[in-house]
Amino acid sequence: MSVNILAIESSCDDTSAAIVQDGSVLSNVVANQEVHKKYGGVVPEVASRAHQENIIPVVDVALKEAGLAAGDLSAVAFTRGPGLIGSLIVGVSFAKGLAMSLGIPLIEVNHMKAHVLAHFAEPPYPSFPFLCLTVSGGHTQIVLVKDHFSMEVLGQTIDDAAGEAFDKTGKLLGLDYPAGPLIDRYAQQGQLVFDFPEPQVDGLNFSFSGLKTSILYFLKRSIKEDPDFIQKNLADICASVQHRIVQVLIKKLILATDEYKITQVALAGGVSANSELRSTLEQTGKERGWTTFIPQFEYCTDNAAMVGIAGYYKYLKKEFTEQDIAPKARWQIG
Ligand code: KG4
Ligand code: ZN
Repeated sequence: MSVNILAIESSCDDTSAAIVQDGSVLSNVVANQEVHKKYGGVVPEVASRAHQENIIPVVDVALKEAGLAAGDLSAVAFTRGPGLIGSLIVGVSFAKGLAMSLGIPLIEVNHMKAHVLAHFAEPPYPSFPFLCLTVSGGHTQIVLVKDHFSMEVLGQTIDDAAGEAFDKTGKLLGLDYPAGPLIDRYAQQGQLVFDFPEPQVDGLNFSFSGLKTSILYFLKRSIKEDPDFIQKNLADICASVQHRIVQVLIKKLILATDEYKITQVALAGGVSANSELRSTLEQTGKERGWTTFIPQFEYCTDNAAMVGIAGYYKYLKKEFTEQDIAPKARWQIG
């Protein structure tokens, strides 16, 4: 008999449900919350309400696309954290209610582990141990992945995440939220004209808040001289900022591969959709003899399929979760 996992993801501003059957993704439905655009960032209370509206239709579509009924499910996996508490609580409550009513097990999943395990949604799979650069709107981490369950954070941001650096730069440039994909698009028409300082942080940790400040002062100075500076130079600014962020990420990844002597290198999280990051990783990998892994776009940004994959491995080990579980806004991988 097949193992059918229904997975629920609601950690931030995307409501997602997926069906994973025997480790393969049958459906992966994501409802984006466009409502945050006008605020220039995610508003937690608004996100929570939107999850409440979206969750039942999204689960219905996921089941329908997979050709399954609720009675066919073997377990419900859900993101317990980390994330926004008001967003998490919607997914957690829904998962608990459904699992209880169907009399099937409940499986908690760490969102950051799920981003890493997105690499097992489709072959080729990385082999253990591998290094995973997990870059999203909330996190920037280099993770040593020992197996499906055992992961260690080797380095992480001490302030802003890489995705936040993209989004906050976008806000300064007057771009909509989330600005990462827009900066990526403008950068493709731009040149590396402006030089932004490289953050100085020891070891495998990252820092992006200084970069944001330097961009802010650079823009203020430039606009004083020419009020249309941003409009005239948008593509070049985007290319220069993006290049600096990507260089920082790759430099630390090189340090980690040297230190841990690991040549299996993977990218995960929303920022791994970035075209320069993807091409630079591939190029660096070729030069250094790495085997690189980049998930398909739909498995990079927040999605429930990755939660379903993580849930499937836990199901095989019978790692089930009690009904009286609460969301965890902060939850380290290790
Ligand atoms: O993993 P994710 O979907 O959600 C979080 O868990 O945060 O990541 C969202 C982040 C946002 O900051 C967004 O701007 C960024 O990923 N992002 C990108 C690109 N696509 C999404 N950043 C740079 N280039 C992109 N193409
Ligand atoms: Zn995420």
